[in-house]
Amino acid sequence: MVYAGSTASLPGASIVTDLYAVIGNPIGHTKSPLIHLTFARETGQHIEYIAIEAPIGGFNARVDELRLRGGLGLNITAPFKLDAFAYATELSEDAKLAGAVNCLGFEGDRVTGQNYDGVGLVNDIVCNLRCPIEGKRVLMLGAGGAVRGALLPFLAERPEQLVLVNRTVDKARSLAGEIAAHGAVQAAGYDALQQLGPFDLVLNATSASVHGEGLPIPAASFASGCLAYDLAYGKGLTPFLRLAREAGVRQVADGVGMLVEQAAEAFAWWRGVRPDTRAVIERLTVPLT
Ligand code: ATR
Repeated sequence: MVYAGSTASLPGASIVTDLYAVIGNPIGHTKSPLIHLTFARETGQHIEYIAIEAPIGGFNARVDELRLRGGLGLNITAPFKLDAFAYATELSEDAKLAGAVNCLGFEGDRVTGQNYDGVGLVNDIVCNLRCPIEGKRVLMLGAGGAVRGALLPFLAERPEQLVLVNRTVDKARSLAGEIAAHGAVQAAGYDALQQLGPFDLVLNATSASVHGEGLPIPAASFASGCLAYDLAYGKGLTPFLRLAREAGVRQVADGVGMLVEQAAEAFAWWRGVRPDTRAVIERLTVPLT
């Protein structure tokens, strides 16, 4: 097995530690070992947490090896979330709708797949940023994997309106159709935004920020008191967040809280204790300047 990044475990050589991992390619950038080992220290849990860089096409073999070593759980990052979906023998509702898995739990032959990205996002917005979603008008930009993961947890918060806007409008329409049984989602293109606004919460769930690209959002889309949230993290003020600021939005946030909150969900599922996330979020926050 190829290991990269931290392979640290908690001190205490005589204590039997449970093994967990994160898998991706590349994996050198991952914050996952730091997050989980901090949670473990905080909650008095004895775990070993390693980072695995698997070759493309090599996901199953690496996960089989981890399980042979006694691994109990695995976090999954790009590009393996679809491989993890296929590997699971059981799936949560969030994972089914997302068509992707970001967390696996192993129990004998049983492999349970979860998708905690959406619930991590909602927890960050509602609990950390103190912005209730219930009764709010929400604009979600994008119709890819990130949006698929977020839709069910968002609808569970009962927003007044949830609008999906995507560059390829048909993708937004078909996603809105798929989710219709769980709640009303409107689909549109960017050209409709001028007529649709304003929104209390505007989320950038496209991959535009990853490439430093901006989005054609009119100032009218941001209500006064609006929260603008970019799911990308660690990039400072992205073009989307800059645009929101220029439109007068005072509360802007990136996805660092979502990253830590989805990890906390995984940790709580695996270990049965909920870690406090504040200190880790502060440690990983890159100023939005
Ligand atoms: P992820 O898993 O991060 O969601 P994805 O599934 O590849 O990644 O989806 C990327 C999303 O970002 C898509 O909604 C894409 O729009 P299209 O469906 O039209 O391709 C959106 N996206 C990426 N770059 C964009 C840009 N420059 N402007 C607008 N939307 C963009």
